[in-house]
Amino acid sequence: MWTGRVLRAALSEGPRGRRAQSALAQLRGLLEEELEGIRGAGTWKSERVITSRQGPRIHVDGVPGGILNFCANNYLGLSSHPEVIQAGLQALEEFGAGLSSVRFICGTQSIHKDLEAKIALFHQREDAILYPSCFDANAGLFEALLTPEDAVLSDELNHASIIDGIRLCKAHKYRYHHLDMTDLEAKLQEAQKHRLRLVATDGAFSMDGDIAPLREICRLASQYGALVFVDECHATGFLGSTGRWEHMAPEASGLASKGTDELLGVMDQVTIINSTLGKALGGASGGYTTGPGLLVSLLRQRARPYLFSNSLPPAVIGCASKALDLLMDSNTIVQSMAAKTQRFRSKMEAAGFTISGANHPICPVMLGDARLASCMADDMLKRGIFVIGFSYPVVPKGKARIRVQISAVHSEEDIDRCVEAFVEVGRLHGALP
Ligand SMILES: Cc1ncc(COP(=O)(O)O)c(C=O)c1O
Repeated sequence: MWTGRVLRAALSEGPRGRRAQSALAQLRGLLEEELEGIRGAGTWKSERVITSRQGPRIHVDGVPGGILNFCANNYLGLSSHPEVIQAGLQALEEFGAGLSSVRFICGTQSIHKDLEAKIALFHQREDAILYPSCFDANAGLFEALLTPEDAVLSDELNHASIIDGIRLCKAHKYRYHHLDMTDLEAKLQEAQKHRLRLVATDGAFSMDGDIAPLREICRLASQYGALVFVDECHATGFLGSTGRWEHMAPEASGLASKGTDELLGVMDQVTIINSTLGKALGGASGGYTTGPGLLVSLLRQRARPYLFSNSLPPAVIGCASKALDLLMDSNTIVQSMAAKTQRFRSKMEAAGFTISGANHPICPVMLGDARLASCMADDMLKRGIFVIGFSYPVVPKGKARIRVQISAVHSEEDIDRCVEAFVEVGRLHGALP
């Protein structure tokens, strides 16, 4: 924002210099006020600096010794899997550090095409398109697809990137209450006047670990002539055929766990899936849309984050590609994650805690009070366990919680240590009798 010319002017004497200096002073005042407001609201986010690889045990700057990490989206532990790292190194060697180009100019390598084909195969869709992130996939989709003649119906608790993506498009916008099918139906009735209707939802919601009722959503979509879009960032690779789920579709089968559409038996009814390579699929970065071939062709022509941002680097492609291979070869990693999730949830519930959500590796330990959640999270860290407390405005008032995320690479001892620490800290703070 402050170009060299403005800075030079600000440093110079004379009326131009004085005007520029006062503009800088004004900006400084505004920024200080804004930052103070964030601090005052208690929503300041500080970052802990990790000095090791991502994994179940990490080293954090300023905290002596290793700590047990229960707050990464590293559900399958592939972020530091030796074969994933090796594949990244190999792609780096063979294809270089990066493309210095967007895809359509000279940024498409064979590995980009191969990974897109692999993603489509994994999800059993016609085609797929890669983006620098799933945030970008969500930013690119709605604007490219929907016109002012169309409508989009979005769950009120959808991820910020879906909300922002929808903001960018000119379609009519309807927001239905979280998971509320009566409200969605009312909104679908209202939206009958539009050309296309697209229902947009997270597959699994990250704050509560709850799962969208995709069967009901797809039934309503079919009744009211709507398309269904699902963001599968917290589901791809580990929900589906191998999890143990109350509502699991009997036909869910195969090795790889594709996501909530497979879990709930509606793979053929969900039209568009966006997901990330930055969580279960190796954890590097990148996102994608997978769905009908014609839609993917349109996105390659129109989606702005695809057209105007650099290609994913080869090492990232190599890692994600290997992660998908591992998941398509065997379901043992997913089963291990599911078993550890079960272990944590049942031990915590037996100890007297309330764990919200479906049987997801996101395990929110519900505490209610914001201060309690924050103090307990601090005390967990003193016992070598890294967990994060969430409170208003990230979650509704009175629903503060500590969100624990289980990974396939946690050992059973890690899980038990975490539960023991929770019990100790919970008693200390009166959260348990
Ligand atoms: C539901 C959901 N959608 C989209 C994103 C964005 O994914 P990425 O990190 O690939 O941009 C996230 C990441 O936090 C997410 O949780």
